[in-house]
Amino acid sequence: MSCGIVAYVGARKALPIIFDTLKRLEYRGYDSAGVALLEDKRIFLAKQKGKIKDLEDGLKSENILSGIGIGHTRWATHGRPSDFNAHPHLDCSGKIAVVHNGIIENYNELREELRSRGHNFRSETDTEVIPHLLEEFYQGDPLQALQKAISRLRGSYAIAAIFTGWDKVFFARKDSPLIIGIGEGENFLASDIPAVLPYTKRVIVLEDGDTGFVSSAEYAIFQGDRKIERKIMEVPWDQQAAERGGFEHFMIKEILEQEQSIRDTLRGRIKEDGVVELSEELAPLADKISQLGRIFIVACGTAFYAGMAGKYFLESLLDIPVEIDIASEFRYRAVPVREGDWLILVSQSGETADTLAALRDMKKRGLSTVGIVNAVGSSIAREADVTLYTRAGPEICVASTKAYTAQVTVFYLLGLYLAKLLKGMDIRPLGKELLTIPQKVAQVLAKREEVERMAEELYKERDFFFIGRGMDWGVALEGALKLKEISYLRAEAFAAGELKHGPLALIYEGVPVIAVVTQEALRDKTISNIEEVWARGARVIGILREGDPLEKELALSFTIPNTIDYFTSPLAVIPLQMLAYYISRKLGREIDQPRNLAKSVTVE
Ligand code: F6R
Repeated sequence: MSCGIVAYVGARKALPIIFDTLKRLEYRGYDSAGVALLEDKRIFLAKQKGKIKDLEDGLKSENILSGIGIGHTRWATHGRPSDFNAHPHLDCSGKIAVVHNGIIENYNELREELRSRGHNFRSETDTEVIPHLLEEFYQGDPLQALQKAISRLRGSYAIAAIFTGWDKVFFARKDSPLIIGIGEGENFLASDIPAVLPYTKRVIVLEDGDTGFVSSAEYAIFQGDRKIERKIMEVPWDQQAAERGGFEHFMIKEILEQEQSIRDTLRGRIKEDGVVELSEELAPLADKISQLGRIFIVACGTAFYAGMAGKYFLESLLDIPVEIDIASEFRYRAVPVREGDWLILVSQSGETADTLAALRDMKKRGLSTVGIVNAVGSSIAREADVTLYTRAGPEICVASTKAYTAQVTVFYLLGLYLAKLLKGMDIRPLGKELLTIPQKVAQVLAKREEVERMAEELYKERDFFFIGRGMDWGVALEGALKLKEISYLRAEAFAAGELKHGPLALIYEGVPVIAVVTQEALRDKTISNIEEVWARGARVIGILREGDPLEKELALSFTIPNTIDYFTSPLAVIPLQMLAYYISRKLGREIDQPRNLAKSVTVE
């Protein structure tokens, strides 16, 4: 999950350094920002909705001498972006301040427990349980209090905390990134290396289970009670490369984040036994579920293609009609709707004008609305009856990658949840299989050099065709969109069965046809379409399941780990994302900001 946290302790004034380091983490989130500085006997706190710069400007006249503090830039997960939900969060006494990046899954039960012990909560965030737990456990030793507090947390966290009377910053980490920057007479904590690079190139990358502190003169790292040493790394990157985590482009960084973003999207919503739990998130529609009639999925571009996977999955599991529409078409169509129909809007930004307009129109007509949205607090997220967040973190590259796989993942969760409720289906075997997907995504990502070699062979081509059936058709469409938008090459996708109804006329000797063949149930049918293009001299490149004998017949192919037909889309799309990336890189294109396109399309 995103959000950026930083901490500084040293001889200089902390405030300007905290702002400077935070700004280099703004790519991790930017809906609110905050700082807490240790003064003599109190903590100075400033936080507000909006950009870091706004907060900084508001504090221009303050001359705070403190050399120790923490800062946060937020990408909201629990609680909308607002002044009171911004970090840092304080305990009741105002003597402990905390910044956190991650998701506390059991915050509801902890909050109830802490409330019953008299603690007073001021925000809607999951994070606020942490300072109150620290207050509860603090008996003169902050590190001990922190270790006890994290033993109560389920979920992911990178935490930095300050306590009045202690000129140290205390930290803990599990499943969210955190590094120590080691300076001369000063030390830093940050979510990511770029934050500290202008100050030091010596960093320690902390690991899961690490706790400890930094002071101006030293730092200490513990695993449980045991003090440990971790390797100090000298960072060779320049500033710009560092913001992209050392990668040449945000696109490849974001592609490689997909194991984590899918894991984050599943986190807390599916148990180890495969049972999906969305009742809290779907609570506003709880009494409507049993009358669910038809589902309309509406979105644009990549989000629409994610919706295609959603359509196939939902209708086959729920046995109800699921229609999918492009938002700009849907809004001007005379769509007959009935009571009990639901509208699902899919959007990374949550601001896409056509998708938002479709939501507003249909709300007026009485439909129940569900947003599948990445940007918390965005218009669609605010206006839909229910929003199921994708938790992919900020996506900076204009071409969408990790948002797509997270959107498909949310459809899986929703489908499984509704199948149990509406059909009494035992979803555990499917749920357990879904839990293996992040690991399988990691296996696909590990083979990126294979795709790079494929790109070497293909980048001089001018036309590309993509084919697939069923859920593979949606993947083919998304693969073609990715390639055309960043390489500017002609890339078209067709439902494989449609070839002979026209597109076959485009096939010529040597033209690359990328065939997505991951649906066992449709394999033989797609192969008969492959034969049609083969017969016309096309060069077929396969995206296949491991062990498919077709691999031996093709000069170029990429195999994905085996899973059931429903769950292949996130695995099959990744080699196509990477192919688009590597071809465009070979062609020297502006990958992160393709010509004529914008990240958020807020006009019709
Ligand atoms: C393509 C891409 C676009 C978006 C589309 C919808 O890579 O990013 O096709 O998917 O503009 O945007 P959101 O998801 O923000 O509604």
